[in-house]
Amino acid sequence: ASNAKFFVGGNWKCNGSVASVRTLVDELNSGVLNSGVEAVCAPPFIYIDYVMQHLDSKKFALAAQNCWIGGNGAFTGEISAEQLIDFGVPWVLAGHSERRALNGESNEFVAKKAAHAVSSGMSVIACIGETLDQRNSGSVFKVLDAQMQALVDEITDWSKVVIAYEPVWAIGTGVVASPAQAQEVHAYLRKFCQAKLGLSVADTLRIIYGGSVNDANCKELAHMEDIDGFLVGGASLKGCSFVTICNAGG
Ligand code: G3P
Repeated sequence: ASNAKFFVGGNWKCNGSVASVRTLVDELNSGVLNSGVEAVCAPPFIYIDYVMQHLDSKKFALAAQNCWIGGNGAFTGEISAEQLIDFGVPWVLAGHSERRALNGESNEFVAKKAAHAVSSGMSVIACIGETLDQRNSGSVFKVLDAQMQALVDEITDWSKVVIAYEPVWAIGTGVVASPAQAQEVHAYLRKFCQAKLGLSVADTLRIIYGGSVNDANCKELAHMEDIDGFLVGGASLKGCSFVTICNAGG
């Protein structure tokens, strides 16, 4: 990992129940975290209030899994960044591949949403990544360039952004990118940011990896030079696994 503070997010996705969230929060609270990690949990909206009241905020910050592209108004079913800030939620995910694929979110939509969230005062975990077809056809960097360029065009304050590289073929599949595969992309993304945003932004920007990270494979990935943390799905639903992954940065 680079010198940036190690960052681990737990994306609970659309999982859980009142009972299982209670258990998970208890497990997380009993974990011991390294002081060098910034750990964030992203529960489904409906459990955020409970998690905020019960999860140890000295260990874990809160993230929402999504927000609306703009402010409050006639947007039925949406939750705005302004409301998240008002409620005390500092982080939000933007552009997760599941929302890109299932909700038709384009690069431009994701970038505008992320930029709005940042300008509302939130910190954003912006997710990018290629599909298996795109990898097999040799267009990984072209896809990432387009996803990143959209973000670069919209976001003005990069101190509030974490980039999560999540190859779609690794998400929820048990097929984790090899440390070398992940490092290759992370180094590429760092160079892209150096060129577009300057050296100081690129040096401090956390570029985290997501896709089938678990307590067994996290250490090796965390040792790679440009991997500054993880975005974890399935393994974030088990308190002890998530804590192990949080501590992988050393
Ligand atoms: O956002 C995290 C995620 O997409 C990775 O999911 O279950 O492969 O760790 P998982």
